Amino acid sequence: CINAKANHTEFVSCMNNHIILFANDSRYLFTEDMPMYSSLVTSQHNPRCSNSTTSIKPVGIVTPQNEAEIQATIMCSQKHGLQVRVRSGGHDYEGLSYLCKTPFVVIDMRNLRSVSIDIEDETAWVQSGATLGELYYSIAQKSQTHGFPAGICPSVGVGGHFSGGGFGTMVRKYGLAADSVIDAYLVDAKGRLLDREEMGEDLFWAIRGGGGASFGVIVSWKIKLVRVPEKVTVFNVHKSMDDQNTTEIIHHWQYVMHKMKHELFIRVIIQYIHDNKNTSVEAVFNSLFLGELKDLITLMNKKFPELHLKPKDCIEMSWIESVLYFAGLEKTPELLLGNKTDPYVSYFKAKSDFVTKAIPKQVFVGIREKFLQQKLVFLIMDPYGGRMNEISESHIPFPHRRGNLYNMQYLVKWDVNDVQALHDHTHWLRGLYRYMEPYVSKHPRRAYLNYRDLDIGTNRQGNTSYVEARVWGEKYFSGNFKRLAQVKSKVDPDNFFRNEQSIPLHIKHS
Ligand code: FDA
Repeated sequence: CINAKANHTEFVSCMNNHIILFANDSRYLFTEDMPMYSSLVTSQHNPRCSNSTTSIKPVGIVTPQNEAEIQATIMCSQKHGLQVRVRSGGHDYEGLSYLCKTPFVVIDMRNLRSVSIDIEDETAWVQSGATLGELYYSIAQKSQTHGFPAGICPSVGVGGHFSGGGFGTMVRKYGLAADSVIDAYLVDAKGRLLDREEMGEDLFWAIRGGGGASFGVIVSWKIKLVRVPEKVTVFNVHKSMDDQNTTEIIHHWQYVMHKMKHELFIRVIIQYIHDNKNTSVEAVFNSLFLGELKDLITLMNKKFPELHLKPKDCIEMSWIESVLYFAGLEKTPELLLGNKTDPYVSYFKAKSDFVTKAIPKQVFVGIREKFLQQKLVFLIMDPYGGRMNEISESHIPFPHRRGNLYNMQYLVKWDVNDVQALHDHTHWLRGLYRYMEPYVSKHPRRAYLNYRDLDIGTNRQGNTSYVEARVWGEKYFSGNFKRLAQVKSKVDPDNFFRNEQSIPLHIKHS
């Protein structure tokens, strides 16, 4: 306690010196004695994380308005023995952007959220504190025939999403968000502001999928926009899993989806539903087709007739309307701005897998039975193939490319904030994860960094060796983990940017 107090006072005075130096508005630093502090501390998407008994409150929350304030925060934190957590959209599944077990400071990027589009050049600069919704909205304001291939939830922050990979409805056509990043500005552990050329290709490679939090604070990203047709087609087909035929269709989806035209994305969501006192499980086939309805129907009749898709199931719309459709929002693009509506805040725990071989039908029957025992559970199956097959495993740190039929995310939500609920729900989810083990990727069983899961392994407090960290690191990054550790050793040899799953230093004999 005494140390934390000393850290606090010295940190604040160090930052105050910088405020004078940079002649800035002092409102960018919030400490516990200020009214805004507690609302900033609790500003997060998965409040279960802040129930953690081992986490402490940050010494300060900095909401920088420019790069100099980020540099000052890094320098003052280092000087006074504080760690740093960087938060952009605050969606980290395990709360690593705002929780820490030792005295720390949060750099909250909410004020750095500008988006600047250059349609002629088909590029944009977007700051890390912007949300995906703000990015999509800004693109649509300039062009109806451009888009960006990132995630589905509009409130997700660009900072965490791009640095962990990022995929959505255009993943089969254009790959990951990180695949379309062409430049970035980052503040490193020495407090230097570096662009792609200055940081070098190794570090630029690492921050596109390796997780930004291990390497510095990414201020902004230059992205290549992609082309979308004026009209796209969407559908949502609900099928009850009480009907055996639904299991057949899901089973078949595994064989056809990854080989379909790159323009087509159909994900399957298996979910518990509770209607008029009845409990059941349904599968939702949720799709974006980058083309017109008539072409979609022709394609589906030929390649996936089992779904019996009818024109009346489909809607033609603009790409930006499809973003709203997937987000479950009304047809008003302004809803994509800021945090005006955020239906996503809830207590949840998630885990992920990659599937390389079609899963037997019986397994889906078993999933249905398990889902009937537990409310608010979801299994989201996002198809790969297409462009994902064409990009090499080492192009960026995200390695899950050719050979992966789809990604699976298991998610359980609950609405009571207590320890028993946390225990029961995570216990249930871990049981489902064990059940799926024989049917998913192996040696190691792979996971997606952006669906962060501390169950797969964590660093020891203090310094974890590269060899120890391989337990979780190779699940996320496969053979790229070694290169990530080598980059880390070069750019942050004192391991200043660290957390429970940060990239460790690569020391040869460890
Ligand atoms: P947050 O701010 O919590 O950051 C996440 C991590 O990145 C932390 O370790 C943080 O320190 C680090 N970080 C953040 N900003 C940084 C910066 N500027 N510099 C350095 N490090 C930084 N994913 C997906 O691929 N497709 C999808 O469709 C969805 N959908 C989705 C919906 C919902 C409701 C949630 C909660 C999450 C998703 N995700 C997703 C997962 C999402 O991509 C993942 O949680 C991202 O890391 C979130 O980024 P944020 O900036 O919001 O999180």
